[in-house]
Amino acid sequence: MNFNLSQLSPNKVYFTLIQAVVPRPIAWVLSENDDETLNLAPFSYFNLVCSDPPLLILSIGKKRDGSIKDTRRNIIDRSHFVVHLPHATQMEQVNESSRELPANASEVEQLQLSTEPFGPFPLPRLRDCRIALACTRYQVSEIGPNQQALILGLIEAIYIDDEIVHLDAKGSIHLDAKKLDPLSRLGGEEFGSLGDVFHLPRLR
Ligand SMILES: Cc1cc2nc3c(=O)[nH]c(=O)nc-3n(C[C@H](O)[C@H](O)[C@H](O)COP(=O)(O)O)c2cc1C
Repeated sequence: MNFNLSQLSPNKVYFTLIQAVVPRPIAWVLSENDDETLNLAPFSYFNLVCSDPPLLILSIGKKRDGSIKDTRRNIIDRSHFVVHLPHATQMEQVNESSRELPANASEVEQLQLSTEPFGPFPLPRLRDCRIALACTRYQVSEIGPNQQALILGLIEAIYIDDEIVHLDAKGSIHLDAKKLDPLSRLGGEEFGSLGDVFHLPRLR
């Protein structure tokens, strides 16, 4: 079947695309509210876009009442944020943290999640996540009739759990994807976990 997207409603386009482009990684984003409490929310319109400079992208819409989502406002106002890659056993907490709460309500406190200092970075990271990326706002643009925000974040530091990383003799960093066990977003209300891992040398 072919679908001409210009003939579908924006809602149908959304539901079709999020089922087609799967799996999507999940950015579990910690940011700071203006009263300095910690905000946490998941975003699956997320990926790496460049490694020199190291940049990731988030695409953040608005709340149902048309106001700006807290993560977006915090990144714009305060610049710093931390992106975590949640593991599969954190699925329920990730989903819980997507509830629309009043501005300045802290999902980190509500879910009783523990944090750790993240080196010299001004924000902490979630203790139980195996990967955390310390980011600062790099560029923000707005697209479309609903002013969706495209946020580029400069990745300044990465935390990797000792259990999933090893350094080889040359000092190269190797991560064990199975131990990372990343949670991914599928369409509708579905989530996924990592399936088989295949090793295939790169052809040049
Ligand atoms: C797995 C998952 C992925 C999500 N991805 C996005 C996304 O990419 N962009 C977006 O605007 N909202 C996304 N949401 C909805 C936000 O998490 C939700 O609006 C949340 O309340 C925003 O919180 P905040 O206002 O604290 O930033 C997603 C929700 C879930 C459960």
